[in-house]
Amino acid sequence: MQGKNVIITGSNRGIGRALVETFVAAGANVWACARRATSEHESWLQELSSSHGVWVKPVYFDMADADAVNAGIQSILDEGKPVDVLVNNAGVSTVGLLSMSKVDDIKALFEVNFFTMLRIIQKVSKKMVRQRCGAIVNMGSIAGIEPQPGKIAYGSSKAAVMMMTKCLAKELGPMGVRVNAIAPGPIETEMIHQYTDDVLKNLAAESALRRLGKREEIAQVALFLASDKASYINGEIIKVDGGR
Ligand SMILES: NC(=O)c1ccc[n+]([C@@H]2O[C@H](COP(=O)([O-])OP(=O)(O)OC[C@H]3O[C@@H](n4cnc5c(N)ncnc54)[C@H](OP(=O)(O)O)[C@@H]3O)[C@@H](O)[C@H]2O)c1
Repeated sequence: MQGKNVIITGSNRGIGRALVETFVAAGANVWACARRATSEHESWLQELSSSHGVWVKPVYFDMADADAVNAGIQSILDEGKPVDVLVNNAGVSTVGLLSMSKVDDIKALFEVNFFTMLRIIQKVSKKMVRQRCGAIVNMGSIAGIEPQPGKIAYGSSKAAVMMMTKCLAKELGPMGVRVNAIAPGPIETEMIHQYTDDVLKNLAAESALRRLGKREEIAQVALFLASDKASYINGEIIKVDGGR
């Protein structure tokens, strides 16, 4: 990753924070995208930048606001630097039976988890195609593979992400751009705080490793998929779930 330029969304916490730390430690420059500016985020990025001798720039946009997304990504492209890697990590999760859900809320979740991801890929992949190289890593989920009651919105959005990944791999592969996805099992971040302790215990027990995953265990797989070590991997969904 030495000297490569990487876009990471959802960089301020959870898996995204581990992604930034992992890519920077591997020598990459990072555009760290987040919803809004905070002094904590900015000083953390500055520390990373000076301790690893790379640039790490904050880029702010709300993934629910199409104009803001377009402007944020355009500001990156306007820098005129090569974009080697895009990690589409930001996402939201909800739990709710269809009978208790509003379709408009499901649409809003799809906007962030799926359509914004498409919008970002559409802009960035044009640049990657002109470069004749690039790697895109999308964050799917085992929720998009294993059906569960209450997961219609989130599970369907992640299933869409993973099928989009496979279709795009076919479209962009001939132009030298690889597109892969990760399907994490339950990972210790704020996203799973919506569950009770009993549910979390069950989720851990469902893994053959009998534990939840760590953010870094997802970030390392993203780093591999984005790197030249994965140069012949395209259109894959890598499950990282401890062996459910
Ligand atoms: N944790 C798990 O068990 C798990 C399992 C499978 C897949 N995943 C996927 O992994 C990815 C990262 O999840 P995580 O566990 O790190 O979740 P998290 O701790 O809840 O972090 C989610 C990230 O996405 C950002 N985000 C959400 N909505 C946004 C919006 N409208 N605009 C801009 N940024 C927005 C959040 O920013 P704010 O801080 O501003 O909200 C945050 O940075 C997601 O795509 C998730 O679906 C997670």
